[in-house]
Amino acid sequence: MKVKVYGNKKVSGKVKVSGSKNAALPIICASLLNKNKVVLKNVPRISDVFDIINILKYLDCKIKFKRNTLIIDSANLNYKPLLLEECQKIRASYYFVGIFLSIYNKCEILLPGGCNIGKRPIDYHLKAFSDMGYIYTIEDNVLNVRLDKELSNIDICISDKSVGASMNAILASTKFKKAKLSNLLIEPECEGLIKFLNIMGYNYTIHKDEVTIKSFINNDQKVKYRIIPDRIEAMTFTVIGLLCGKLKIKKCNPNHLLFPLNILVKNGFKVKINKNSLYVYKSVGNQINIETDTYPGFPTDLQSIFGVLASQTNDNSQIVENIFENRMQIYYDLIKSGIRCNVKDNKVDIVPGKVKSANYKSYDLRHGAAVIILSLIGDKSSFIENFEVVLRGYEDLLRKLRRIGVKIEKIK
Ligand code: EPZ
Repeated sequence: MKVKVYGNKKVSGKVKVSGSKNAALPIICASLLNKNKVVLKNVPRISDVFDIINILKYLDCKIKFKRNTLIIDSANLNYKPLLLEECQKIRASYYFVGIFLSIYNKCEILLPGGCNIGKRPIDYHLKAFSDMGYIYTIEDNVLNVRLDKELSNIDICISDKSVGASMNAILASTKFKKAKLSNLLIEPECEGLIKFLNIMGYNYTIHKDEVTIKSFINNDQKVKYRIIPDRIEAMTFTVIGLLCGKLKIKKCNPNHLLFPLNILVKNGFKVKINKNSLYVYKSVGNQINIETDTYPGFPTDLQSIFGVLASQTNDNSQIVENIFENRMQIYYDLIKSGIRCNVKDNKVDIVPGKVKSANYKSYDLRHGAAVIILSLIGDKSSFIENFEVVLRGYEDLLRKLRRIGVKIEKIK
């Protein structure tokens, strides 16, 4: 999909933040653990969610998805090899492994896809499953996991900090009466998953980077849960407001964004923080010096977006990407648009300047969001190709942008 974005635009108005993609996807998979109905509120209508719903339908689950309420009935759930193309389209399909091991002690699935921001192996996931008594093979892109030895309880340490491996290990641990998992990365999305599991009758307690499960009261009742707001979407629109006008960002959770918000406030950007909203005003801050880190540090998903903001500050900035090995694309787009950037491996020095409109291609979801913002501060209009990758993670994006005054057109 190709769009045309008109530059030099003022924005104003309100944006309601949708439910978090990265919180919804593992919870939708975890719903299979409940034999009764699960009602999920605030589920974003984005392509990654529709892909994962197609996998649930293939597994004979009954699905109702009206507005942002998703009702999942997995009473007729059947084990099947997961060799669907949806498994390769998204990264989060790997959460079915943890679920299937918990329910069936086995899983056969196509290896996951997702944004091309690095190699993105799943070795930490596989090590956790091996520590839980499983063996696995990978042949022709198909992961096959089988039970090797039945353990009654587990005490395992995840190889390194990983959002996906932490949540997948928690999902697989639901079969054990007693389990201790350490070295987890408990980001807000993971916390949401644990809250959801506890509503379903599990009894996880969190201590820093560890969780223990004490018992499981199989209540199999109808369960209701509301997905947390998308913190990355909230900050995406915050940066649009800081560069282009005045915005109220509604239904967000600033507590999940303390690190990036603190950088903005400390550097003189005009952001007013309320309980579940942000008021943002066009302002030029001093500079943006960041190093991406695991939560509660600066999120890697905001790195490209803040890179565009750094091109419009009073002073030079430096940004370092520590999580993924291939997430510096936006700086080549900034160079193409007349901004001086000195990129060395995963570090970039940015000299602020005027942005000359250019044409761009979205490489991944968050790079795509960053080039939309870059187009908005261009002197003319820009074309963006491969725009559909952005719709994977931002619900109703075109309508939300147009409602705050952005002129964006789909090109046939
Ligand atoms: C999740 O990816 C998110 N995706 C990503 O969001 C996000 O950027 C990332 O966490 C970091 O916050 C989903 O939740 C669906 P990791 P994930 O495991 O779980 C390496 C977006 O834009 N690693 O924390 O894949 C890995 O290569 C997407 O919404 C291994 O080496 O991230 C990376 O360098 C993009 N082996 C680092 O760890 C493993 O087994 C962090 O990855 C697992 C990870």
